[in-house]
Amino acid sequence: MIIRVEKGLRYSDVTPRADYVNRRRFLAGAIGLGSAAWAGTKLPGITKSRLSTDEKMTPYQDVTTYNNYYEFGTAKDAPAVNATAFRTSPWTVRIEGEVAKPQVLDLDAVMKMAPLEERIYRHRCVEAWSMVVPWIGFPLAALIQKMAPTSKAKYVAFETFFDSKQMPRAQYGGLPFPYVEGLRMDEAMHPLTLLCVGLYGETLPNQNGAPLRLVVPWKYGFKGIKSIARIRFTEKMPPSTWNLANAGEYGFYSNVNPSVDHPRWTQAKERRIGEFFKRDTVMFNGYGDQVAGLYSGMDLRKNY
Ligand code: MTE
Repeated sequence: MIIRVEKGLRYSDVTPRADYVNRRRFLAGAIGLGSAAWAGTKLPGITKSRLSTDEKMTPYQDVTTYNNYYEFGTAKDAPAVNATAFRTSPWTVRIEGEVAKPQVLDLDAVMKMAPLEERIYRHRCVEAWSMVVPWIGFPLAALIQKMAPTSKAKYVAFETFFDSKQMPRAQYGGLPFPYVEGLRMDEAMHPLTLLCVGLYGETLPNQNGAPLRLVVPWKYGFKGIKSIARIRFTEKMPPSTWNLANAGEYGFYSNVNPSVDHPRWTQAKERRIGEFFKRDTVMFNGYGDQVAGLYSGMDLRKNY
């Protein structure tokens, strides 16, 4: 008898949910993740970073229910509701382009690349709200160095995992998917740029970009691409989703800049989630001492 395995059929399609959840848990244990492949699992051995702000952190409840993740709906509370069943294990990240050895890494290999740190960063959305989030991750530079990009690699391009079956609301998002983003190589290598796997001591909730996302604290939040499935080293500036959707409103650089207004609203002020009065927005989101040098000689009104 020939048993045919249908193409595209997933384990979850043929197995009762309780069984596959247990099996996933077992597999995660087998590859050394413990149960860290699941949203809301404690991450052990995290050191505290000197690069953290001492500003008051935004409560966990707000960080995890006030989100932008258009694949799971456009309302702020939609991702927390609609991303609960999103499968983030097993997970692989394809490394490709201008790199010594293109390869596919599993999440376990990524997690082992560098010690995990807690980085409490200001998080400023282009919609003029902000938060303070205790992210967990390691500098993206650690991964880039291990992957050995070639001398032609001038940019790093990122792509989110996309599956219209798991993300049926994406069709109403008004954005082209999969979501893509990019950084110049020196921005990607900057010690503040974080490859993030958790927040508040735990693995990332799905709505915050499990299992792996980018955090670039001096840029608007949309540079922080979620659920990364591909990292490509390129010679030319890669596309970014919000720029593709509306080039007049969203540029490649997207540095937080109180003196460059969004065409439809001011960027001079912001509302810190949980606070009543608005705050003044600070150039480079307050990280200017560390990052302004990356842009010396550039007109940041043109390169917004
Ligand atoms: N990544 C993907 N794949 N899809 C998205 O819609 N939204 C971006 C960014 N990353 C988005 C994404 C935007 S607009 C912001 S402000 C941040 O995620 C929000 O991150 P947070 O929900 O963890 O605060």
